[in-house]
Amino acid sequence: MKITSFEQYEQAYKQSVEQPEQFWADVADNFTWKKKWDNVLQWNFKDPDVKWFSGGKLNITENCLDRHLEKNADTPAIIWEPNDPTEDFRVLTYKQLHDKVCQFANVLKNNGAKKGDRICIYMPMVPELAIAVLACARIGAIHSVVFGGFSAQSIADRIKDADCNIVITSDGAFRGNKDIQMKNVIDDALVQCPSVKRTIVLTRSRTAVSMIKGRDVWWEDEIKKVETQGNPECPAEEMDAEDMLFILYTSGSTGKPKGVVHTCGGYMVYAGYTFANVFQYNPGEVYFCTADIGWITGHSYIAYGPLSQGATTLMFEGVPTYPDAGRLWDIVEKHKVNILYTAPTAIRSLMGFGLDFVKDKDLSSLKKLGSVGEPINEEAWHWLDDNIGHNKCPIVDTWWQTETGGIMITPIAGVTPTKPGYATLPLPGIQPVLVNENGQEIQGNGVSGNLCIKFPWPGILRTTYGDHERCRTTYFATYDNLYFTGDGCLRDEDGYYRITGRVDDVLNVSGHRIGTAEVENAINMHSSVVESAVVGYPHDIKGQGVYAYVVCPDMHEDADLTRKDIIMTVSRIIGPIAKPDKIQFVSGLPKTRSGKIMRRILRKIAEGDTSNLGDTSTLLDPAVVEEIKQGALK
Ligand code: WTA
Repeated sequence: MKITSFEQYEQAYKQSVEQPEQFWADVADNFTWKKKWDNVLQWNFKDPDVKWFSGGKLNITENCLDRHLEKNADTPAIIWEPNDPTEDFRVLTYKQLHDKVCQFANVLKNNGAKKGDRICIYMPMVPELAIAVLACARIGAIHSVVFGGFSAQSIADRIKDADCNIVITSDGAFRGNKDIQMKNVIDDALVQCPSVKRTIVLTRSRTAVSMIKGRDVWWEDEIKKVETQGNPECPAEEMDAEDMLFILYTSGSTGKPKGVVHTCGGYMVYAGYTFANVFQYNPGEVYFCTADIGWITGHSYIAYGPLSQGATTLMFEGVPTYPDAGRLWDIVEKHKVNILYTAPTAIRSLMGFGLDFVKDKDLSSLKKLGSVGEPINEEAWHWLDDNIGHNKCPIVDTWWQTETGGIMITPIAGVTPTKPGYATLPLPGIQPVLVNENGQEIQGNGVSGNLCIKFPWPGILRTTYGDHERCRTTYFATYDNLYFTGDGCLRDEDGYYRITGRVDDVLNVSGHRIGTAEVENAINMHSSVVESAVVGYPHDIKGQGVYAYVVCPDMHEDADLTRKDIIMTVSRIIGPIAKPDKIQFVSGLPKTRSGKIMRRILRKIAEGDTSNLGDTSTLLDPAVVEEIKQGALK
């Protein structure tokens, strides 16, 4: 299943388009199935209805754990590097990880968890997070991991949407020099969530927490019970290929975040295939992805992808700047990391600290580098290439989305010639097309348009939880028979793809997806705010920053204090990751006669480009634009 030359890539690509079913059946043969599938693929993008490997039976954890035990029981599966570099790191071999997953799966069963239940996981980046995820998959429960940077309200929204009955969390968490009160946040969330009958609390920081009788239990106590019961094994539940594996919430251009649903068979095949190929993983290599398991990158490329391939995956609890800006390079040196997969925002932030933090580090173990989450600017690409890869490591700029389950357009490390700023070429099985506003396909090279995919791949989302119609309208209704990504893209003269960013109202702030409508809703919750409009603007480190125009006639006499109150409100409603960087108070918003906010104008002002605002004659009150221009924040 591994491509090792560009000729092979071209052949595989050709086959994947001409005989997609044969192609993916051959790939799927590299995995362990309890029963082979009846049909490789059934699909239409109209409903949409996509089924891969239907009739196939499997459990993804047998592919991530059991199947490696015969030959690689003692191979490190997870290396865990704690937030504090003086605390001991941990290594879990495949055998140890298998045993811990089985044990915790039995804890879940003891606490009433069954196949099909939804379980919310809100935890720091410790091995137990991966164990919890895999234990859910082991018993066929559907996990919904919520990133630690979300607020109680966001967690409650997600728990209610998925009707979760169990929450797995920790007392607290360490991130940089912060001590975060995880259980406290969960307690606040659960006030709104009567469906939750049990929380299982891991000890991490041993901060004081409330433990409610009948609802809250300690992880460690539950493990002891399983040990005294003497049932170390937990047979893997037999899952249908199209049974749900997990829900992961992500932001769109309208409304609340939606629960993207991935299923067992196709997701497994796609995460495993793409991991093996894009990073050209070789046995024995140490692979380090700096993402958090709370995002799709962590699901597919810290947990499922690498583990399905028997790889050694490094999990890091902390942040790249703690205790100083050399931390990632210290980790590379300490654990002899061979493959580093990170985000442009991290690179740009570390660039700002200068080369002093890099120069004495031994980075000679590195062989391959990867980037994900947002367009990588050429400066960051070259900095990574020169100072980290020493011009010897191929850089894979991987474009994909929560909805795609795995990497879609990317170089294959050492196989595809790279070009800074370009995600280059589609992986086998991926058929990208560029379309114009009328939905017509734009042929040829040297063109740009909206990026769509015209044929299903095994990792494509199947639905949005509890609301299939929303899935249809968001992704499959804009253009007939195409999956619409929401991204703009250019294809250069060589046929190479360069992703230019979102064309909808989704922002990408430090690689985190944030919907402008969501931020507006949160700002509007503030008691003196009448109305607001949020747009993105170019930010040197974050990629995009959040710029909010706020109508707030009776604000506190100290405008700065009102700004802080609004920021605090957004933190409460969504979480610290969505805080506006700039808040401009305005007397009104530019609207058309039909009441639509002219975001195009607001975007231009936020970008500091007021020279050509285009046609403003259709505005209800053109004078407001002048006022906004005058008051624009630098
Ligand atoms: C953006 C993250 C340019 C894009 C895996 C996409 C990228 C959104 C790249 C998905 C890249 C991701 N180059 N843009 N290499 N990778 N994006 O769902 O706008 O958190 O639509 O998935 O990130 O973000 P998500």
